[in-house]
Amino acid sequence: MPRQILVTSALPYANGPLHFGHIIEAVQTDVWVRFQKLRGNDCLYVCAEDTHGTPIMIRAQQDGITPEQLIAASAEAHSRDYAGFLIDFDQFHSTHSAENKAWTDTLYTTLRDRGVITRRSVRQSYDEQAGMFLPDRYVRGTCPRCSAADQYGDSCEACGATYSPADLKDPVSTVTGTTPVLRDSDHLFFKLGDFETMLRDWLKTSGLHESVRAKLGEWFEAGLKDWDISRDKPYFGFEIPDAPGKYFYVWFDAPIGYIGSFAALAARRGLDFDRYWRSETETELHHFIGKDIGYFHTLFWPAVLHGAGLRRPTGVHVHGFLTVDGHKMSKSRGTFITAQRYLELLPPEPLRYYFAAKLTGGIEDIDLNLEDFTARVNSDIVGKLVNIASRCAPFIERAGGHLSETLPDHALFVSFTEPRERIAQLYETRDYAAAIREVMHLADKANQYVDQQKPWIVAKDPARVDEARAIATQAINLFRVLLVYLAPVLPRITQTAAGWLGERAFAHWDAVQEPLLGSALGKYPQLATRVDPAVVKQLVASAPTPAPTVATAPVKPAKAAAPKAAPAPTLEPGMIGIDDFAKLDLRAAKVLEASRVEGSDKLLCLKLDLGDHQRQVFSGISASYAPEQLVGRFVVMIANLAPRKMRFGISEGMVLCASGKADGVSEGVFLLSADSGVQPGMKIS
Ligand code: MSP
Ligand code: ZN
Repeated sequence: MPRQILVTSALPYANGPLHFGHIIEAVQTDVWVRFQKLRGNDCLYVCAEDTHGTPIMIRAQQDGITPEQLIAASAEAHSRDYAGFLIDFDQFHSTHSAENKAWTDTLYTTLRDRGVITRRSVRQSYDEQAGMFLPDRYVRGTCPRCSAADQYGDSCEACGATYSPADLKDPVSTVTGTTPVLRDSDHLFFKLGDFETMLRDWLKTSGLHESVRAKLGEWFEAGLKDWDISRDKPYFGFEIPDAPGKYFYVWFDAPIGYIGSFAALAARRGLDFDRYWRSETETELHHFIGKDIGYFHTLFWPAVLHGAGLRRPTGVHVHGFLTVDGHKMSKSRGTFITAQRYLELLPPEPLRYYFAAKLTGGIEDIDLNLEDFTARVNSDIVGKLVNIASRCAPFIERAGGHLSETLPDHALFVSFTEPRERIAQLYETRDYAAAIREVMHLADKANQYVDQQKPWIVAKDPARVDEARAIATQAINLFRVLLVYLAPVLPRITQTAAGWLGERAFAHWDAVQEPLLGSALGKYPQLATRVDPAVVKQLVASAPTPAPTVATAPVKPAKAAAPKAAPAPTLEPGMIGIDDFAKLDLRAAKVLEASRVEGSDKLLCLKLDLGDHQRQVFSGISASYAPEQLVGRFVVMIANLAPRKMRFGISEGMVLCASGKADGVSEGVFLLSADSGVQPGMKIS
């Protein structure tokens, strides 16, 4: 029986662009969902914009637009970025929707009628000029403990003290710059403490990671406090039905956004709502979140659901935080990488692969090291995985385009399909890192097979073309098994490969047991290309991305943080640093025209194609090459050499050659050749 599974990622706030932190979470979730679907389970994936709250209201005011306009622009940008990373939601909705309003009201009134909502007065900072209560983060002042200036209203970054804004010395509202006053107002509270027994019980049965469970234990020890679910106007959100002028706190209606999004999907697809939200046995509910929002998802949320007579989550899967090159992502360091910036420069799958290869299912932080990223994805995806197919495809084409009828080494094939349950188990428990390690180990084995069998030597003998085809058939079958294992991570490569090997080859996890034999193959497609380290560098270089329409983060005034550069190691005499090397702009150029230069017996005049423009270069190679030989071939050129005026005209660059004695006797110069795939203008590094 296929499992029926509903999966969510945390709802991104609508006041900032998606960044790599959001993307690693979306990738973790999307891989799991695609894996479940590939295993034949019914799996639905919903998410939404998290649209309510003070930061969004204030951001909209600052931008001179309505909150509705702000969240509409954000929804568009977020949807585009998620799609760019191939995140395959069944529904991407909004918390500012009719469905969410209805469900928020329903949950609230049910909780109220069951007696788990209580009302009491709260004293809070109030900005008289703005006419609004101030969330703690909107009050800054001097720390009451260590006297550090300009600290948030809830905690001090200098000494770590926690306090309330009323304790700050000389507090200031960040909204208007005026001094806030204290004012009382009634608030509504959810009685979390009433659910302690239920929660302790739930935590035993639900699929929580050991470390998440331990954290919950600490929270129980500290005691479960009532939770304030209301805010006074002005507030962008849903007004509380029986409390005019009061609104639901954004964190009350945000998780209900999971239900709202599902409700919209259910209406479109005719799904049974109760089956997903009232039964804990017929379906599963899995939330993927970051470690900063565990409290909301493992305490409040299951308690709210249970209190309202709905099912509790089957699993809450918590991941750690993403760091870039060992540090918290930071705007001043240039490591706050937005999804949009990445997608302007690179295709999505290398990053999906790298993130997956780092995710273990645990809550430890995950580091994106940019050099490691380039090396790893080029080596694994292009050098190992795709290499198996690209090396062998020609021997099928040469033998008429059909795979052989039998496998020359069936035992080897079985050794690839045999670990499928173990690998599936690793995906199931979100240890993608281990799954990928297994797959790459097999990829090495497949490449070894090709290296040993040497189909390119076999195929030289016209009588052995079938033998070469059999070797290629074997290798392509190994490749196909590996790509099924990686299909949840690399959906686009899988899609492209399906155009070559057939849709059915990738339709189901268990289909790997059946080798592909005898079938006609499509034309071998380009499955992946290498990631250029120079381009990767641009990810963190001060990015020229235009200011996003929706800006980031709440009002924290930026502190001037000087980027710290690590001291450069001293260079040996004669060596250059990577920065010196990076100054050279080396390019692949294609010779469009070549001619002798009148008055010179050394020079040829070359017209070169660099992709987006052409150059004229004089090159001293006429003793080694006839002009007609050169047209159409690639050369390596230095593209950022200052133009030089020569007797014959201007030379706009330089062509690189090897020089020396080819036959041990006579000196010569030699151009280097390009592999297939090289395009005019490609950067060489
Ligand atoms: N809107 C809330 C979630 C409501 S869910 C009912 C929120 N939004 S967020 O935009 O700040 O974060 C969305 C998700 O991204 C969270 O799970 C959060 O943990 C995750 N991440 C944000 N920054 C992150 C990193 N640097 N690294 C990894 N995940 C991070 O919280
Ligand atoms: Zn302090």
